Amino acid sequence: MFAKQITFFAAVLPVAMAHIGLFDPAAFDFDGNGYSLVEPLANLPFDRWWFHGNKNKQPKAGVAPVNLPAGGKVTLQFSCNKRFTSFGGGGSNNNPCPSDTPSMHAGTPINDNALLGCGLAIAYKSDVNQVQPADFTIFTVNTQCVKTLRTDFQVPKDMPPCPNGKCVCAWFWQGQNSANEMYMTGFNCNVSGGNANAKIGAPKPPVYCKGDKNKCVKGAKQPEYWANDRSNIKFEGYDKKPAYNANWGYMDGAQTDIFTSGGGSGGNTNPQPTANPPPATTLATSTKKSTPAPTSAPSTCSWPGHCAGATCKTYNDCSDDLTCISGKCAKK
Ligand SMILES: *[C@@H]1O[C@H](CO)[C@@H](O)[C@H](O)[C@H]1NC(C)=O
Repeated sequence: MFAKQITFFAAVLPVAMAHIGLFDPAAFDFDGNGYSLVEPLANLPFDRWWFHGNKNKQPKAGVAPVNLPAGGKVTLQFSCNKRFTSFGGGGSNNNPCPSDTPSMHAGTPINDNALLGCGLAIAYKSDVNQVQPADFTIFTVNTQCVKTLRTDFQVPKDMPPCPNGKCVCAWFWQGQNSANEMYMTGFNCNVSGGNANAKIGAPKPPVYCKGDKNKCVKGAKQPEYWANDRSNIKFEGYDKKPAYNANWGYMDGAQTDIFTSGGGSGGNTNPQPTANPPPATTLATSTKKSTPAPTSAPSTCSWPGHCAGATCKTYNDCSDDLTCISGKCAKK
């Protein structure tokens, strides 16, 4: 029902893009309609959210897996529609969604402190049908996702090689200014270089640990599976949304702590400043910039213009835990 609704909107309102997805020829369903990969995953049974339901929509024969150069970086493209990527005739600037900034789910203009980051996970299995949720380890994070079309991810230098020349990877994201929903896109990947003697530990689900580093799960961590069947984390509300940053124990850049043996320390981090903790001045500036002057809006919420009483078509148009009832955002 939900998927049908989204398809319907994509068809009649091509300008209202609303979300962000990963586009790469090695991604499952890359040859879809250019919008389907952008659809959020919420309240879905396992088979429909796992790999976005696209396990069988494998890349065309001959498409190379995404190369993960150990100790280097991989650049991927994120957009609200394939047509803004270099694969769809766009890509001349670095804006992931020139037609709709709210698609990034971090305010308009984008408030860096509302960016929840994204992560790439790897499973050391070549057959996608063998991959289970507990097989995925987040090996790199970019805390500034999805601010730019082209986004860099640092690859740990000790990544072991893939079995049979191929691993299965997936991208995970969620936004702050949106309903409870997650994003997962599968893609084929392969490690080049690396350390054949290194071993990645059994990944554990992360926990929310803002303000208490001792609470953070150390070592290899799974992605955050939530908002659908078979969650692996505790969701404690809008202010503690799942995120790929220090609030959930992930470092920015290469996850250099995932190895149980053979793995070195050090490694790269992303060149961008992290959002944790932001300097007080940055916080004040960006808060000021992104918070519009008080208006006579019927209520306040974290996504201005999408609070209780705002016009909506689906729950995705409404902030926090509001839903869309008779065309207006309202409490469930
Ligand atoms: C994956 O990487 C390994 C190591 O560099 C290489 O030997 C193999 O050919 C690669 N596989 C593919 C499908 O490119």
